[in-house]
Amino acid sequence: MDKQNLDLAKQYFSGFSKLNFEERLDRLIELGALSTEDKKFLSDGCKMDLSLAEKFIENVIGYFQLPIGVATNFVIDKKAYAIPMAVEETSIIAAASKTAKWVRDSGRITTHIVGKEVIGQIQVAKVSDYAKFKKVILQEKNNFMDMVNRDVAHGLVRRGGGVTDIIVRAVERGDGQFMGVVHVLVDACDAMGANIVNQVCEYLKGPIQELTGETVTMCILSNLVDSKVTHARVEVDNIDMTLASKIVEASLFAKQDPYRAATNNKGVLNGIDPILIATGNDWRAVEAGVHAYAARSGQYRSVTSWNIEDDKLVGKFEAPLVLGIVGGVTKLHPMAQMSLRMLGVECAEELSKICASVGLIQNLGALKALTTEGIIEGHMKLHIKNLALGAGAKDSEAPILQERLEKVLKETKRVSPSQATEILKEMRLEV
Ligand code: MEV
Repeated sequence: MDKQNLDLAKQYFSGFSKLNFEERLDRLIELGALSTEDKKFLSDGCKMDLSLAEKFIENVIGYFQLPIGVATNFVIDKKAYAIPMAVEETSIIAAASKTAKWVRDSGRITTHIVGKEVIGQIQVAKVSDYAKFKKVILQEKNNFMDMVNRDVAHGLVRRGGGVTDIIVRAVERGDGQFMGVVHVLVDACDAMGANIVNQVCEYLKGPIQELTGETVTMCILSNLVDSKVTHARVEVDNIDMTLASKIVEASLFAKQDPYRAATNNKGVLNGIDPILIATGNDWRAVEAGVHAYAARSGQYRSVTSWNIEDDKLVGKFEAPLVLGIVGGVTKLHPMAQMSLRMLGVECAEELSKICASVGLIQNLGALKALTTEGIIEGHMKLHIKNLALGAGAKDSEAPILQERLEKVLKETKRVSPSQATEILKEMRLEV
């Protein structure tokens, strides 16, 4: 999308949710987010070659399809985006787009990343002399780094990355003894880095054993990447102070209480996971990293916070989001390729900043709803469509069933799958 043309993006996204399928695709083509080939692929139902699935996993029996939609109105670091999200939960894209519009029109989203390295771990479970182990590794660390950068990570070095540091840690075994753990820090550039980090660590296993006389027990990357942390900041100007105070209270709740923090962070990941899936990234790795980071103080806490600064509501997101835009599924899966083209990201860090921003906006939307009308109103209204489908309503029955369920919701503030089934039964008896 044209970086300069934010006004044009506003114009194109205006009324987007009211468009039909074809009009939506045409609008995205006009915006430069999709090509005519993309439109054909999407209109034909995204048919995928089974031989591709065979390349990814074993015992293939087909494809599992999720809906993919586009979150609109996002302007992050002054750049407008159409954001692809693959997700089944009804209200996520609508809430993200609505909240992004609020912030676009009355505030801003900015981002930055602190650190660049991902972490590989080499464990020596039963180190006989930890002090000596640490000393000799640190003495040899520059040689180790030169060797591994020359023999294994030369591709990364060519792209400006590679192994940048080696750290030695003592980890309590729980029996009064320690294990030795070597951390290898790798700048993986635009890759997520899992493969190269594992190769680097396995390569170092031999030299470490030879040098120290200790036995290396395992090598693997860590998903707790506190050495590369993505930050997003949302500011809403001239906010209604009653609303702002409610959001700040909700934020304190999620900071102090792990029961609430888990749900808060689930809501944040509602914004992040769908982008990871759409772009072919490893969402399990990101989830593990976000939750581990949330617990870094010894208590599980929210990865977002909201405060009032002057007349502004200021939100912050902080967690590791280590993503890739080259290699693996990102490169082979046609939907992942389309999603990356749609976003127009230039590097993996840009994608990670988008995810952090959408997560924080999703959180703002949820907290606003939870502290005002409650979640049922916005969430269940949209969910009613799914209830009607789940109850087995035919196309001709669905609108009437939805209408009746909405009435029930309005009157009782609740609506359930069994009520949908019951009402559908009654409707069928009426005819
Ligand atoms: C539901 O998918 C997400 C929420 O529970 C998040 C939250 O409570 O902050 C609404």
